[in-house]
Amino acid sequence: MGFIKYVWYNSFYRITILLCLLSAGSIYGQNTVKRKQISPNLFGIFFEDLSYAADGGLYAELIQNRSFEYAPDDRKDWQPFTAWEYLTKGYGYGTVSVETREPIHPNNPHYIVLKVDDAGQEGVGLINYGFDGIVIRAGEKYNFSVFTRLVSEQPIPLSIQLRSKKGDVYGEVAITANTQKWNKYSAVIEATHNDDSAVLAIVAKNKGTLAIDMVSLIPDKTFHGRANGMRSDLGQAIADLKPAFMRFPGGCLVHGDGLENMYRWKNTIGPVEERKEQRNIWNYHQSVGLGYFEYFQFCEDIGAKPLPVVPAAVSCQNSGGTWKIGGTGQRGLPLDEMPDYITEVLDLIEYANGPVTSTWGAKRAAAGHPASFHLEFLGIGNEDKQTPEFRERFKLIYDVVKSKHPEITVIGTVGPSPAGEDYELGWKFANENMLQMVDEHYYEKPEWFLANTGRYDNYDRKKTKVYLGEYASWGNTLFNALAEAVYMTSLERNGDVVNMASYAPLLARIGHTSWNPNLIYFTGTGITLTPNYYVQQLFSNNQGDIYYPDIVSFKGTNVAASCVKDSKTGDLILKLVNAGETPVLAKANLSGFRPLNSNATLTFLNGQNEAKENVVPVTTAFKPEKQFTYNMAPHSLSVIRIKSKKE
Ligand code: AHR
Repeated sequence: MGFIKYVWYNSFYRITILLCLLSAGSIYGQNTVKRKQISPNLFGIFFEDLSYAADGGLYAELIQNRSFEYAPDDRKDWQPFTAWEYLTKGYGYGTVSVETREPIHPNNPHYIVLKVDDAGQEGVGLINYGFDGIVIRAGEKYNFSVFTRLVSEQPIPLSIQLRSKKGDVYGEVAITANTQKWNKYSAVIEATHNDDSAVLAIVAKNKGTLAIDMVSLIPDKTFHGRANGMRSDLGQAIADLKPAFMRFPGGCLVHGDGLENMYRWKNTIGPVEERKEQRNIWNYHQSVGLGYFEYFQFCEDIGAKPLPVVPAAVSCQNSGGTWKIGGTGQRGLPLDEMPDYITEVLDLIEYANGPVTSTWGAKRAAAGHPASFHLEFLGIGNEDKQTPEFRERFKLIYDVVKSKHPEITVIGTVGPSPAGEDYELGWKFANENMLQMVDEHYYEKPEWFLANTGRYDNYDRKKTKVYLGEYASWGNTLFNALAEAVYMTSLERNGDVVNMASYAPLLARIGHTSWNPNLIYFTGTGITLTPNYYVQQLFSNNQGDIYYPDIVSFKGTNVAASCVKDSKTGDLILKLVNAGETPVLAKANLSGFRPLNSNATLTFLNGQNEAKENVVPVTTAFKPEKQFTYNMAPHSLSVIRIKSKKE
């Protein structure tokens, strides 16, 4: 007691005790460190059905053109029988025709009629080649389903087979088509062999005539085991990014190739056989099996906030420019259709968040998700040309959404470039209308990213915030990725005005790329993670919500560093990037943070500048001092994560 009295009356100890009390409860006492709040949603992902990202990609369906809706409009050499073949062997014969009378649903008009005149010894039927072949693995189960309608009277037994291209049967089930109304049949086929380019055969074993539609084969193992789900390896690679948010369904796909081709979310929900498929602006087809329900569910499964983007009721200004002669350019929905269109946008918010007693909340519940999807963000428009037609329609939608849903952050758009007419006009419009956030896009050389790290330093903090919705440097080398990393430290530094950012595009199927570079490349059998992927992963796995300036000092060009804290874990995170050719010595001063935890990790990404593959981060233990020097190796990104003292 006497000692306590002594220290209390001794001013030196009094100050010490007060400082200790002040920093108690804070992990890294910030009393002496400058800091600012930054967005907790800074690094997310951009998903567009581009380069077979959805059909033939993330969407786990293995049958290509399952509903016979491919058309020359998608691609001039495509038609309803693309990816299919008529199968007859062993002296059987018959015919195959595409028909449209009495379809399953008017949204899904085409189907096949198989007429078997003589089933011969081996039957007569159809073969589907999948997307570059169907990948099957021995012992794995595949969920098959089909809709049939008997045109003749007698039931028709069908053999459903996984086959090699040569005809060896690698798995088989039998079903019998037995009604003259459309009926769905389901069965599980177990593969007996591995094959990277198998086919699916539907073989009729009796004489008769049968209508066939919606032939589906989905691996039993999908990401999170969802029935109409996502490919598990791609889903996991995306989940491993730990994105704060996911933007979908595009990109240019959103505003579409002409007014008829705009992405209308209501066409993409409900039973898959009733969804309205359409041409993909990237010159292929959208089955919309991966539709709005699946997007929301996938966001939930990967822990990302959903960020849907709806068209601003205008089509893409480049409509028709690429592959149609005499394109339409930007067109606006007639103004008398705007009230219905605005209702469509409001209904989307209700579909995501509304109670199960609401019209659209009930549809979400019927799809198996009574709980809200917690929609917080909504994009309107995608880099649209800033015409009076666009602005009028945007404003009509924006005003109603904001007045009815002030809780939703609505994101506007400011063109496809970091500067120029649409950028200027877009920002002027945003400021005049006090938009909350706008979507900037740019694809530039790596040197541009290295030279423009000051871009956001002088953006007005009191005005509209930025969503950097699409950006990438032109390439997939480590140098490209490091230029992006340097730039991303500037996004963190400006995380009080840049609230969200997403690299674009995310996925591309090798052999079907409409755009390069991409973050993840894949085939039917595997995936390739680019250096850009690992940079995105290191930043998004190590996001913070508090930014500390001036913690790391260094001399050099093409070098950058940041220091953030993640309040959820209490961890302190340093990122050090050297995109240059020579080592750079950095000094970190953490003396303002106390106490320091000696439990830290260093994750190091390094390689040759030109490397595109096999550049993988390695994590080791790291012992941080209050002040330490760190040698930033040429062509490297280092992430030092100092665990909270709480642990
Ligand atoms: O990311 C590829 C395309 O680039 C997007 O569809 C479009 O928004 C941008 O021009």
